[in-house]
Order: sequence, then C-alpha cells, then structure tokens
Amino acid sequence: MKITVIAATGGIGRLLLDQALAAGHEITAVVRNPARLTADGRPLDGVRVVTTDLADADPARLEAAVDGADAVLSGLGARTAADHGVARRGTDAVIRAMQATGARRLVVVSAAPIGTVPTPDRPAPPRHDPGDGFVMRHVLNPLVKAALRAHYADLALMEEEVLGSALDWTVVRPPRLTDRPLTGRYRTAEGRNIRGGRTVPRADVAHLMLHLPEQPRSIRKIVSIAT
Ligand SMILES: NC(=O)c1ccc[n+]([C@@H]2O[C@H](COP(=O)([O-])OP(=O)(O)OC[C@H]3O[C@@H](n4cnc5c(N)ncnc54)[C@H](OP(=O)(O)O)[C@@H]3O)[C@@H](O)[C@H]2O)c1
Repeated sequence: MKITVIAATGGIGRLLLDQALAAGHEITAVVRNPARLTADGRPLDGVRVVTTDLADADPARLEAAVDGADAVLSGLGARTAADHGVARRGTDAVIRAMQATGARRLVVVSAAPIGTVPTPDRPAPPRHDPGDGFVMRHVLNPLVKAALRAHYADLALMEEEVLGSALDWTVVRPPRLTDRPLTGRYRTAEGRNIRGGRTVPRADVAHLMLHLPEQPRSIRKIVSIAT
C-alpha cells in the first residue's frame, strides 16, 4: 500500500513509520523537522519526506504528500503547551489536502476521554463513556481531564473535523500510552471505551492503525483500544 504517515517523528508516528516500512509499504512521512527522523540527521532510506509545520501547513506540500495514498495515518498531537490547537488545525489541513487530491482513507489518534469532552457543536456530551467503570468515571477521568483540559479540547475539535469530513475515517482512542514493546494482543471496541483498559503500548496503537485500512467495517467508526 501507499501510506502517508503524518507526524512521523512522534511516539506513535515513528512506530507507524517503522512498522509500515517493515511490512513493505511505500511510505511518505510528513514532519516539521526531518532531522528528528534519524539519530544523525541523515535522510531515512526508502522514505519520501515532506516537511511542513502543521500549525500553519503548506497546502501544496500536504497535497503532494497525500496524493495517491491508499491510507493517511496520523499520530499528530501537541507535544508541548505551545503546540495546543495543532491537532485540530493540522488535521483540518490534512483533510483539505485529501479532499483536494481524492485520497479517502484517514486514521487519526485521539484519546479515551474525548467522548465526554464538550465542544461548541456538542456542548452537553454524555457525562461518562459507556465503557468506563467506576474508578475511571469518578477518579481517573476527572483528574486527567482537569490536568489536560486544553489538550483534550484540541483533540475533541479534531474529532469533530474528522467526523464531519465525509472521508473514510477511523478515530482511534487509546487510554494512557506506554513505551512497552509491541504485543499485538490488545482489546478493541467500537463507540465505547474498554472496561478496565487503563494503558496500551504506543506500538500496539500503531499496529492497530496500520491494520485498520484493511478493515472496511472500521470506516466511519470510533475504535477504542487498550491492553
Ligand atoms: N500520552 C498519553 O498517555 C496519551 C494517551 C492518549 C492519547 N494521547 C494522544 O495521542 C497522540 C499521539 O501521542 P504520542 O505520544 O505519539 O505523541 P508525541 O510523541 O507527542 O508526538 C506528537 C507528534 O506531533 C507532531 N507535531 C506537534 N506539533 C506539530 C506541528 N506544529 N507541526 C508538525 N508536527 C507537529 C510532533 O512533531 P515533533 O516530533 O517535531 O515534535 C510529533 O511528531 C497525541 O495527540 C496524544 O495527546 C496521548
């Protein structure tokens, strides 16, 4: 497959890149800083790299990056507070580039609590995700949502852009990410979080994202993942 990886220097993004390369796919990597792709800053063999800052993306570069892609897989998210807003803005730019070029399949990564985060279009979301148990509902989620308010607001707006896009999208919602190795053994659920699923390795999220384009039933679905 021809795959475009958005934010290929991130935790999930880099694992997407490595797993897609290992599977023999043809890869285009979209990054803001290509020097982060290798330890010595040299070009990465076998990967076409497109450089653009997704807070203010160059449309022509993004269109070149997604043109002809069988799937566009995005690990984009704010790395620091200075990046807040980039998930919505950057994903909106990716969607426009896909619409301009006719690329259709988009997979993005969001976060498990986002179904309960209000947005201007959905000011009164459900108070609890139906998959969350007592501890998640009443202890962990309130704490993490207070700590990551701006970050989650950005991801909630990103989800709105994706859901409203008319592309063949899938939103992936993981709980807390770890840097543990790939297991390939994880639980998924559609439209609800996973009971007792508190963590998942980034490598497993990348594994799911890479395989979702082979699963047409995941189109226009929100898929939760957890160990
Ligand atoms: N941490 C958790 O436990 C957790 C849990 C659930 C969901 N999530 C969400 O999952 C997503 C992926 O997580 P992660 O840990 O893989 O993220 P990460 O390592 O922080 O990577 C974020 C990626 O976005 C890129 N990026 C940020 N601003 C950009 C800009 N202006 N232009 C271009 N690229 C930009 C970064 O580029 P650089 O490499 O150049 O900085 C990096 O490649 C994030 O949205 C995160 O919030 C995280």
